[in-house]
Amino acid sequence: MDRPRILVIGSINMDLMVELERMPLAGETVMGENYRYVPGGKGANQAVAALRQGADVQFAARVGCDANGRVLREGLLAEGMGLDYFREDAHAPTGLAVIPVDSSGQNRIIVLAGANGRLSADDAREAVEGGCDCVMLQFEIEEETVKAACQAAAARGIPVVVDAGPARSFPLEEIHGVTILTPNETEAEALVGFPVEDEASARQACQKLMERSGARYIVLKLGGRGAMLYDGKRMQRYPAMPDIRVVDTTAAGDSFTAAMTAEWLRSGDMDRAMRYGNAAGGLAVTRKGAQPSLPTLAETEALLAKA
Ligand code: RIB
Repeated sequence: MDRPRILVIGSINMDLMVELERMPLAGETVMGENYRYVPGGKGANQAVAALRQGADVQFAARVGCDANGRVLREGLLAEGMGLDYFREDAHAPTGLAVIPVDSSGQNRIIVLAGANGRLSADDAREAVEGGCDCVMLQFEIEEETVKAACQAAAARGIPVVVDAGPARSFPLEEIHGVTILTPNETEAEALVGFPVEDEASARQACQKLMERSGARYIVLKLGGRGAMLYDGKRMQRYPAMPDIRVVDTTAAGDSFTAAMTAEWLRSGDMDRAMRYGNAAGGLAVTRKGAQPSLPTLAETEALLAKA
């Protein structure tokens, strides 16, 4: 499959990114150094990332009838995004995320869902019925919407990739049969109920996640330590790319998931897909902001060729 058709159903936010030396303690005031408005949202980031990784992407989402919604929509159009299922909602503002980033590149994220909370099960069903090679979902929208998308995809035999961010509990049994489930360590902990802090707990978490979701693959993202692939028998570690200078970790996981999915659809090879994910995640942390940091396929392949 040269140019896979991916449908992303998910959130879209305007990110208010604040750069500061260090995070404030509880009750403390610190001075920030700089702020910017940057397009973000886990769904939109993964849609843009998949597009830059060479996929043909439709993005199903909701924004408010406001200036942020208009700016975000124009940005997506300029990228070449398919917006057949992208709606303006008169009853809620566009989603907003407040993201302080410290001098070591680490962030905290506060999300105000706004119109993302109104992306409905019917919206998801309608988009899936439009047809695609793969559906990508995250947990930044309503549980019912995620479930409806998975059920509609299952009914049509369409593979589903679920990025389990942000961290929350979720009835994985109700999306049984997804193809790839990919949490990071915090998200895995929220789903399995125990800390994922070493090789043994990572394996235990992957087994439990596979049992509950029926996924074919569990991909555990480990940030600067790379990622792990569990296929029900083997647990394989894929180290992160070497010599990466961390500037801002925002959207690195989104970049990983999208590049991994696009390459898996192209080649059918999970081993290659994991390496593409690591390279694209690694590139994203070297740049500031969510969508501005997402690499193209050419950049990802150039980094892989150097390694
Ligand atoms: O994954 C990063 C994203 O999380 C940010 O762009 C922010 O909008 C939140 O959704």
